[in-house]
Amino acid sequence: MTTSTNGTFDRRPLIAGNWKMNLDHVQGITFLQKLAWTLDDAGHDHSRVEVSVFPPFTDLRGVQTLVKGDDLEVVFGGQDLSPKDSGAYTGDISGQFLNRLGCTYVLVGHSERRTIHSETDEVLNEKVHAAYRHNLVPVLCVGEGLEVRQAGGHVEHTLEQLRRGVAGLESARAADLVVAYEPVWAIGTGEVAGPGDAQEMCAAIRAELGTIFDTETAAKVRLLYGGSVKAASAASILRERDVDGVLVGGASLDVAEFASIVRFEQHLVTD
Ligand code: 13P
Repeated sequence: MTTSTNGTFDRRPLIAGNWKMNLDHVQGITFLQKLAWTLDDAGHDHSRVEVSVFPPFTDLRGVQTLVKGDDLEVVFGGQDLSPKDSGAYTGDISGQFLNRLGCTYVLVGHSERRTIHSETDEVLNEKVHAAYRHNLVPVLCVGEGLEVRQAGGHVEHTLEQLRRGVAGLESARAADLVVAYEPVWAIGTGEVAGPGDAQEMCAAIRAELGTIFDTETAAKVRLLYGGSVKAASAASILRERDVDGVLVGGASLDVAEFASIVRFEQHLVTD
């Protein structure tokens, strides 16, 4: 990420915690309260760095009540949404419901959805459109598996997921899109892509967005890196020019660790 001459970031960094299928509705509330206290104690400036959590669906009502009631500056989102708005789709959750629960964001195409639930780029594209229909900002997740990386096809593979994911979007809508580059081989494995790898892919994604939309739009889109991010590795990744945030799995379940990632600017100064 780059900063302007006045010290503000060109794009507001987003530190996002994907809880996956962890923390029930009671644990989720306790966690969020502790996170808010920890960030308050540290004097965190939310206007500089945005914090979002992605709890399980069953936590969202409690999270909404806490965030509203205590006026927390944390935002939140769903981990998935249906491509449909309503109807006979047992087990699915409409973007309309997420919007009513105060969600800002929704994850689309996390690699665990692509793999475990066989979600295709075509379905994910429908989900991206569904998110916008309900005033949710999609966080479109893209990234290659180990075999693709080893064969050197990671950039093309990831850009193809991107192109298919955003097909049919208008530039005006795309400016607030978030894209998360999560190499599958780095998720939950302890293997972190190096800052150079994250930058290489994020630069390629931004250039591709410039081609799909226009350079002005591409310059506004926030690009996250995800995959085994920890407090110790976050700052060096976030220092890269085209990386505007991180999507954190395991380390987002530890208050101190996640708060430390949110406060990555401290490490930028001391590194
Ligand atoms: P880990 O940080 O546990 O590797 O998970 C990354 C991820 O999948 C975030 O969406």
